[in-house]
Amino acid sequence: MRDYIAAGNWKMNMSIANGKDLAQGLIESNTTSSDKVILCVPFTHLAVVNEILKGQDLIHLGAQNVCCEPSGAFTGEISAAMLTDAGAKYVLIGHSERRGYYHEDAGILSKKITLALENGLKVIYCLGEPLEVRQANEQNAHIKTQLESDLFLLDASQMANITIAYEPIWAIGTGKTASPEQAQDMHAFIRATLESKYGATIAQNTSILYGGSVKPANASEIFSKEDVDGGLVGGASLKVDSFAAICNSFPPK
Ligand code: PGA
Repeated sequence: MRDYIAAGNWKMNMSIANGKDLAQGLIESNTTSSDKVILCVPFTHLAVVNEILKGQDLIHLGAQNVCCEPSGAFTGEISAAMLTDAGAKYVLIGHSERRGYYHEDAGILSKKITLALENGLKVIYCLGEPLEVRQANEQNAHIKTQLESDLFLLDASQMANITIAYEPIWAIGTGKTASPEQAQDMHAFIRATLESKYGATIAQNTSILYGGSVKPANASEIFSKEDVDGGLVGGASLKVDSFAAICNSFPPK
């Protein structure tokens, strides 16, 4: 069956020294209820955090972005091969901040996903609707379009390396969390959409994370929902105590 995953998205926060302390603190806090913890750190922190994470197998290293080209004259970009070389095992693709601020559309996202998979990375593919779409009650159609245009070009074997993170944009960094029922409804819809394309086994085996103002006070209620397999956590992943509490908020299997 699918894994329970707590993924931290540090975004553009944290000095290297603080990042090392946070990773070390999480190792020492020895969380037990998640199957996997993933730290999505800034590019500059990958190699050093990778060193800290050696010798244990609960906490995995991830990046927050990857270039949509394999190599060459792309000043300032970081390739999928470079991420693997620095020790990353995961990469976030499709985060609403990348879609919004950097205009990443379906064409770019599918190139990134393909390159990441070709280079042995697992992908945490993010999607979510803006507030006006939720207010118009059109969130399901919006999410279906995102899945179809970004992800459904993949074949079934590639889907085994995809984790999905549903992040309603109106809940990211705003303190407004989707209710556990809203999260469950959307996760069930995403799983049903996966099933109609790839069949029941892939749909049942894909972990679907919720993101958007997850914190220790709401994590266990959200994670208790049947189709919610964990969280992608921004602000509350920046401190050992709060992120360790979230990592320990999963129901027994
Ligand atoms: P947040 O961010 O937990 O601070 O709302 C989540 C995310 O953007 O991944």
